[in-house]
Amino acid sequence: MNDSTINLNEARKYILELMPQAGEILKKYFNSGNFTSQSKGGADLLTQADMEADQFLASSIRQRFPQCEVLTEETAPKDYSSLKEVSNLWVVDPLDGTINFSRGTPHFSISVGLVDRGISRLGVVYDPNGNSLYWAQEDRDGAYLNDRKLRVSGTANLLETVIACDWGWDLQERLKLVKWLGSIAPEVRQIKSMGSAVLDLARLADGKVDTYIHSGLKPWDTAASSLLIEKAGGKITTPEGEKWNVFNPQMLATNGILHDKLLELIRR
Ligand code: IPD
Ligand code: CA
Ligand code: CA
Repeated sequence: MNDSTINLNEARKYILELMPQAGEILKKYFNSGNFTSQSKGGADLLTQADMEADQFLASSIRQRFPQCEVLTEETAPKDYSSLKEVSNLWVVDPLDGTINFSRGTPHFSISVGLVDRGISRLGVVYDPNGNSLYWAQEDRDGAYLNDRKLRVSGTANLLETVIACDWGWDLQERLKLVKWLGSIAPEVRQIKSMGSAVLDLARLADGKVDTYIHSGLKPWDTAASSLLIEKAGGKITTPEGEKWNVFNPQMLATNGILHDKLLELIRR
């Protein structure tokens, strides 16, 4: 697939229009509280809203971009590792923060990213409750929340640092995060776990938190939000300081200024 087959400006406009429509599907269920839920196995949960929004986004994107591959959370095969080499791969999380959604907590989001061999080219995140559209594009400066340009925080001091983290569905993987937090917790101002990786990473791009750390993310959690962070001046590596891409489940994202300090704490 040749990159020139996709006009990023047109693709962005299309996704920006699609997101509020998917948001309406989520709000319909969220506001009525009337939806079915089922276990995906283990602790993971799936609602009727996840399924309907997934189906809507997948079919719309497939129709508009028939030349592209599409990876959505609710239709992903068990092994999608071959997609690591694909250019122009749409990656969709139709509802990020399903637990918040199912418990009546209005902190959830939708994510659509266009990925080229693990690197995000276009990212759009939508918060239906705040009607907030976050977006960034490979060939444009900056990341935006609606029309406002985003900038990561300027926090430089660990004792003033607010960290966000969250817990993956793989229960064993969580123990890695426990270990990292064991080194970080005594040194920083606050540690939050808000339950929507996508939205919490977007909020890092907006300076609302200073860093984000996770041991079990999926490509649909980061395909859009990682570009927001990079375009807003932040930095992403693995928690060991290695190069990161959206197929890597372990992520340390920061405002850039704090990055080496955090890596040093984690190495202790
Ligand atoms: C989950 C949320 C949660 C994070 C999990 C994700 P989902 O996504 O983003 O905050 O800790 O790792 O899987 O399942 O609600 O789309
Ligand atoms: Ca989801
Ligand atoms: Ca998710």
